Amino acid sequence: MLMKSLLESAARIGIEYLHAIQSRRVGPTAKAIDDLKLFDEPLPATQSDPREVLQRLHEVGSPATMGIAGPRYFGFVIGGALPVTVAANWLAAAWDQNSGLYNITPTTARVEQVAQRWLLELFNLPRESAAGFVTGATVANFASLAAARHAVLKRAGWNVEAHGLFGAPEISVVVGEEAHPTLIKSLGLLGLGRSRVVRVPVDNQGRMRVDALPRLTPPAIVCTQIGNVNTGACDSVGEICTWAHQRDAWVHVDGAFGLWAAAAPTRAYLVDGIRGADSWATDAHKWLNVPYDCGVAIVRDAEALRAAMAITAEYLPTATEFRNPSDYTPELSRRGRGVEVWAALRTLGREGVADLVERTCRHARRFAEGLSSAGFEILNDVVLNQVLVSFGDAKTTNNVIAEIQNDGTCWCGGTVWQGKTAMRISVSSWATTEADVEKSLDAIIRAAATVKSRE
Ligand SMILES: Cc1ncc(COP(=O)(O)O)c(C=O)c1O
Repeated sequence: MLMKSLLESAARIGIEYLHAIQSRRVGPTAKAIDDLKLFDEPLPATQSDPREVLQRLHEVGSPATMGIAGPRYFGFVIGGALPVTVAANWLAAAWDQNSGLYNITPTTARVEQVAQRWLLELFNLPRESAAGFVTGATVANFASLAAARHAVLKRAGWNVEAHGLFGAPEISVVVGEEAHPTLIKSLGLLGLGRSRVVRVPVDNQGRMRVDALPRLTPPAIVCTQIGNVNTGACDSVGEICTWAHQRDAWVHVDGAFGLWAAAAPTRAYLVDGIRGADSWATDAHKWLNVPYDCGVAIVRDAEALRAAMAITAEYLPTATEFRNPSDYTPELSRRGRGVEVWAALRTLGREGVADLVERTCRHARRFAEGLSSAGFEILNDVVLNQVLVSFGDAKTTNNVIAEIQNDGTCWCGGTVWQGKTAMRISVSSWATTEADVEKSLDAIIRAAATVKSRE
């Protein structure tokens, strides 16, 4: 009975939270953040009623959350969570499946295998590819690049899993000047070095300049990007693949959010040619709007990913007919995070995913038009869901960002784009409506006027 009432109240609280977030200020108040000190109590010596524990988590924790699940959060590149994915997540938490091994947890393993097939179809990537469901694009980059490291060294006659990198042939690594820091971190984790990379200069949108590609000899890995975190711009992956494959290099694509452009007919031209690459990293917790955390590492040569990730032990059953998910991920034990991907794709279908991507891109263009008409400078070509806006010099722009965050109608963060301070608007949530965009535009323009009046 306790379990029933506990879980029912968790569902009720969660539902009320998601309802209230529509109209709540997006950022938490200073008081709510200050109240988090109430969590800082001694480790309890005795047991408590779990219902009180849940109530405390809600009363102290909920007010200080960022309104990421709501419709007017435009920070970083952060989606919300489609209701069906929250529901699937709750059910999967009740299942509590350790999803590493098919024989032990067949449901989550099979559902992930279907989600893998659907993703390959949706992105039109080679059907023989393998996908690993990992925590996010950081680990998707890591896992894909581990497969790349395996494959290019195998071609050079070296078994990196067995012998490590000591004495191995040197791998040349090429990245764009605008590669995401998590890709660089992944290279560091793999022993390929954060700094010992050849950086290719980029154009004014952050795209690798194809005319500036370096001399390259194998073994080599070339890291491209679709969806620059600031501008949304995409490298010319097709052209880079042709150049790289002539040099026997592996081409990786960091498509944390940009890969979803492939699923939207009006945006797909931006990622034309990605099919020629060898591996792709993406997030489902960004544009597909599943709950944190979920990224996907996709590798054309499934055996390369398996060679980099799989382990064997006498006590671990090997799968026969269906794959062991843990053969394709860095983790052995993990939650079946592909369940939410399956639930999102099963609900949206091709049409729904395309609509989600195209709708959020339309909202981004409306932000750009509205702010440009109000006299502010848009710094990027708004090709996807990212908008960079300057309100004047760095101080003024930073003050406007602070004013918007303080106002609470919506939430946007800042950046410096090619030397110029800018506010970033990333429209990534299923929940954002045209009315939310207009309400947020009004709030942003009002904040800029307030800052101007103070100067
Ligand atoms: C291009 C790119 N790559 C990688 C990442 C890292 O993604 P995650 O935070 O899901 O690990 C991001 C995050 O915004 C990104 O934009």
